[in-house]
Amino acid sequence: MPTANLSTAHGQRLELKRFTTLKVGGPAEVWQIETTDDLLEATQEPYRAIGAGSNLLISDEGISERVIKLGSDFNTLKTFKGQGDLWLGAATPLPGLVRRTAQAGLSGLEGLLGIPAVLGGAIAMNAGTRFGDMSDSLQEVEVFVDGGLERIKVSELGLSYRHSTLPEDAIITRARLKLTPSTPEKVETLLAKVDAARKGQPKVKSAGCAFKNPAGNSAGHLIDVAGLKGLRVGDAMVSHEHGNFIVNLGNATANDVLKLTDLIRSKVDAPLELEWQLWGFQ
Ligand code: FAD
Ligand code: EPU
Repeated sequence: MPTANLSTAHGQRLELKRFTTLKVGGPAEVWQIETTDDLLEATQEPYRAIGAGSNLLISDEGISERVIKLGSDFNTLKTFKGQGDLWLGAATPLPGLVRRTAQAGLSGLEGLLGIPAVLGGAIAMNAGTRFGDMSDSLQEVEVFVDGGLERIKVSELGLSYRHSTLPEDAIITRARLKLTPSTPEKVETLLAKVDAARKGQPKVKSAGCAFKNPAGNSAGHLIDVAGLKGLRVGDAMVSHEHGNFIVNLGNATANDVLKLTDLIRSKVDAPLELEWQLWGFQ
């Protein structure tokens, strides 16, 4: 498998584990996109968009679709000058955006602290915490679909708990956010609360929480009280720190990880729905 520099990836077959935070996933044709013309060329065959790969479980066999990764031209954090109403590229990293808007005393993104996504992936998943999610600040998105760019209002994106109704073939290219003027001190106070709520989460290779929380309950708590922390299949293990995190101890395969999720489900007496997006499984 070639180990080309990512910036040169233009239709090369690459191991997708390189593009995921869990470090699992087989090969696919990866298209690194810098311009809308690139998008036009890349979308001539079936495709999927990837963001920071922080909510994906990708099969060891890889996927047959092209994988479209928006490049640095879509990371527009540098254009942020403290304005409350702004268009940003979909490859803008969320951690940097949360930090910069906080410094500018703008409120609306605090609940997203600690989420290792890029803007496009955070919108597609309506990422968030109990302190707030993407839908709080999102106004509209620009998407590439059917060979052209279109705008979709947030009200038409069906954003709910870790879910959107974004059409499968729509690639978010930009998004307009509206933030509320506040003060850096007030924003920092809320950020500290969000940070404290994340203290029990592992810092090693994972894809965040594996399962959505069942209504009125916490999947992590249910897995914990079932005594499953430390349960292992190969190098995939239920984190000792947080029951809803499956960590990769080194060489976990997608098969290990999926088997472990099945094992967890068989031992927890509540319906657990995966939060991760599964690629390449039947
Ligand atoms: P990816 O994982 O790359 O993709 C996720 C989905 O978005 C896929 O279906 C993909 O096709 C689609 N997508 C990506 N980019 C685009 C685009 N440009 N256009 C259209 N579709 C696109 N999530 C939370 O909600 N709250 C948390 O607190 C949280 N904590 C986490 C902590 C850790 C340590 C980790 C590893 C993950 C955590 N997550 C959390 C999960 C994850 O960060 C979110 O689901 C995030 O929204 C995924 O964004 P991404 O850019 O990585 O998208
Ligand atoms: N708990 C346990 N044992 C555990 C884990 C949690 O008993 O191993 C208990 C905690 O003590 C607490 C309750 O369960 O009383 C809830 O736990 P926590 O505060 O950690 O929140 P969570 O519901 O497990 C959710 C999100 C996280 C988000 C945090 C912080 C989901 C599935 N998870 O976790 O999101 O970061 O709140 O707000 O909604 C993600 O989606 O990937 C993710 C990490």
